[in-house]
Amino acid sequence: MELDLDLTVVANESASMFGSSFEHDVLSGLALHHRAIPARWLYDRAGSELFEEITRLPEYYPSRTERAILCAHARHIASLTGYGRDVIEFGSGSSTKTPLILEAVEAAAYVPIDICGEFLMSSVVALSHRFPSMPIHPVVADFTKPLTLPSIRSRGRLGFFPGSTIGNLVPPLAVRLLQTMATTLGEGAQLLIGIDRIKEAGVLIPAYDDADGVTAQFNLNLLRRINRELRGTIPVDAFRHVARWNEAESRIEMHLEAREAVAFSVAGRRFQMRAGDTIHTENSIKYGPRDARLLLRAGGWTPLEEWSDPDDKFAVLLAEVKPVRFAP
Ligand code: TRP
Repeated sequence: MELDLDLTVVANESASMFGSSFEHDVLSGLALHHRAIPARWLYDRAGSELFEEITRLPEYYPSRTERAILCAHARHIASLTGYGRDVIEFGSGSSTKTPLILEAVEAAAYVPIDICGEFLMSSVVALSHRFPSMPIHPVVADFTKPLTLPSIRSRGRLGFFPGSTIGNLVPPLAVRLLQTMATTLGEGAQLLIGIDRIKEAGVLIPAYDDADGVTAQFNLNLLRRINRELRGTIPVDAFRHVARWNEAESRIEMHLEAREAVAFSVAGRRFQMRAGDTIHTENSIKYGPRDARLLLRAGGWTPLEEWSDPDDKFAVLLAEVKPVRFAP
């Protein structure tokens, strides 16, 4: 079978640049008073695979809840998007929820964007067997940076941004990303986005600190990656995974906490941490219904419709780009 596949590596994000910006982000992040490393570096091949495992955990409600919402409302969604758009997915990972949407909206083409090229390619090959006549244009890139999409003629673009990944960016960056998406997708574009709701810490914490320790491994993999790729000497066993609910910021925080005093080097630079010191590796911000709609508006998107599960644990919103009006 002929596969309509071409792998686009966005010019300003070549493989070597990933390497050097990883080093830059790690060295500058470890030097901060509140140590922090941007979450995108969690997603190498091993990290992407561990994340897939997280999405199948009983404690991790977002994936299956979102999938059920998409499944239950696919026809309604399609009636609002129309048929024959190009679907652009941001942080596509394994593309497990995508077939539902591609089928429902009768997508003209599919553009999955992911930071992990290896992982992207294997998901795309699987998907191309399911949709043999639909062109697929995978793009290896950090989707938080502006990018040029392959030009394809269709009935407009539909951005797909599931998984509450928007919650992994602090609000000013989330707004900036939504604005970038509006620019990238262009006039007449729509966005289908999944946003996790605020709920009790008793449900949230286990979702980010599961009994089998898969999330812990996912977080600790960052240290292994640093050791592997940046000549690190971090004693991984001296760290533990911590998930905290920060009420004031309405977010789950993931940290790597030193169990004891540690000293190590990364790329020739020395670092020290005391027992109890942490490296902040991820936020997962939760939004109430009005918060979610305001966030979209702040990013240049007008909400058209939203769907939720019966317990209102998770929401999927459809929005469209509207030219900004500064007067009433
Ligand atoms: N977008 C996912 C979320 O916020 C990412 C995620 C899930 C995650 N579990 C994680 C990130 C554990 C780091 C660690 O729910």
